[in-house]
Amino acid sequence: MRRRVIAGNWKMFKTQAETRAFFAAFAPLVSRAKHCDMVIAPPFTAIRAAVEAARNTDIAISAQNLHWEKEGAFTGEISAAMLVEAGCRYVIIGHSERRQFFGETDESVAKKTKAALAAGLLPIVCVGETLAQRESGQTHKVCKTQFLDGPGTLTPEEFSRILIAYEPVWAIGTGRTATPEIAADVHKFLRECAAEKFSASPASALRILYGGSVKPDNIKGLMAQEELDGALVGGASLDAKSFASIVNFAS
Ligand code: PGA
Repeated sequence: MRRRVIAGNWKMFKTQAETRAFFAAFAPLVSRAKHCDMVIAPPFTAIRAAVEAARNTDIAISAQNLHWEKEGAFTGEISAAMLVEAGCRYVIIGHSERRQFFGETDESVAKKTKAALAAGLLPIVCVGETLAQRESGQTHKVCKTQFLDGPGTLTPEEFSRILIAYEPVWAIGTGRTATPEIAADVHKFLRECAAEKFSASPASALRILYGGSVKPDNIKGLMAQEELDGALVGGASLDAKSFASIVNFAS
């Protein structure tokens, strides 16, 4: 049985003070949640505040990006070791906004994933098709390429330590969630890609999260799908009550 993960991606939202206020409200609301792993990904500047606020809770902290080099003349970049030192346990890699606005490619995703793993971070690698790609019937092809050229380049040992997030670009921030069936179809397909590239056992252990307009009112339907091992939540993770009710989907 794969343990579920509910992760919040705050994107470029929340100062340190807002982060502390969020945790003060959120932590008590999820203190009894034992059915899933909880992760929150604040912006870099609020990571430390989040780590301190999450101490003595089961909430793990994630970064939203990293650079693959250990150090160097890379203005504006942050390394895996810096994230570990700041207290991060996870890192999101290859989010569609990074692919769309910051030139991230499958190649950079592969390099970042290896660097994250080498430092002991748990990467959450994002894949997903655009609306045009879905409408022209290319969903599986696009996801397979992103999988093979990203996570597919890892060694089997490395692969056993990653998580994948399927985030159809047309569902992100649009209020247009994939139906549980649409999501489950792609999750199943990605698991088949993993089995083909690696083998059946790491493929069946792989946790695949769904992301794209996950809200308190649709989380239950999504989690009713056995193929969905959790959720990566953007907008609805910014509010303590709303994110807590997503985490507590089972109660
Ligand atoms: P959303 O974002 O929940 O606001 O659609 C999801 C994501 O981008 O991770």
